[in-house]
Amino acid sequence: MEFYTVLSAGLAGLVLLAIVALVRHHGGAYLTWHVYLQGYMKSLFSSRSKEQRILDFVLKHAVPGDPTSVLNAIDKYFSQQEWAMNVGDEKGLILDRVLQEASPSLVLELGTYCGYSAVRMARLLKQGTQILTVEFNRDNADIAHQILQFAGVKDKVQVLEGSSEEVIRQLQKKHAVDTVDFIFIDHWKDRYLPDTKLMEELGLLRKGTVILADNVIFPGAPDYLQYVRSSPKYDCTYYPSHLEYLDAEDGLEKAVYKG
Ligand SMILES: C[S@@+](CC[C@H](N)C(=O)[O-])C[C@H]1O[C@@H](n2cnc3c(N)ncnc32)[C@H](O)[C@@H]1O
Repeated sequence: MEFYTVLSAGLAGLVLLAIVALVRHHGGAYLTWHVYLQGYMKSLFSSRSKEQRILDFVLKHAVPGDPTSVLNAIDKYFSQQEWAMNVGDEKGLILDRVLQEASPSLVLELGTYCGYSAVRMARLLKQGTQILTVEFNRDNADIAHQILQFAGVKDKVQVLEGSSEEVIRQLQKKHAVDTVDFIFIDHWKDRYLPDTKLMEELGLLRKGTVILADNVIFPGAPDYLQYVRSSPKYDCTYYPSHLEYLDAEDGLEKAVYKG
């Protein structure tokens, strides 16, 4: 009897380990587990949204005016407690490198969320450089404002509230933009291609504009990848990596506009 009890417990343990391994390596399974189940449960028992929980953690654990401490706090929270869609520490290093190589004066980001990537970029850019970051969710934009302020990078970053299409159409007239030097594309994946084509049409790209797109493998933006890789207007480089805070495969695509 005892033998069978030990055997069943052992088997149950093995099954559990297999589920954990599957979930960690499979982006879709992990997200279902973390975002929809764990996130839902946390929100159910808390009066704060996930984004408010990020802000609370930053205010408690980071140092005001120190952007690196803000990034470290966010990365720590999301590696240990729950999952979120910031570009994250691993792909963040690629973003840092490509941004520094481009040495832009004007950056456009599509998809602010809580401001993690905006803080990441702002800390590397010299005084006078401007980042315009676009967010259509008012609650996210509000959290981003507070995180940018706390990190001490508010002077370099302007959050433009509205849909990417609407804001892109207003950049020249309303925000006095001529062309953009560096674009970080990280909003909903079905907008990557239409927004890129729109920026081409409006003349917002110049020879040498660098477009860096996140999540081109997971969740994936196949129509965008197919377009830039097959177009004579772009020189493309793929940077393999992993989905933020996970082992599942993901990557960034750099597309340099040739005019
Ligand atoms: C992946 S998150 C951005 C993460 C952020 N770049 C970071 O790494 O910290 C995507 C964000 O884009 C916003 N978004 C999605 N589609 C958008 C659109 N068409 N226009 C404006 N914002 C959009 C979402 O509300 C969400 O906050």
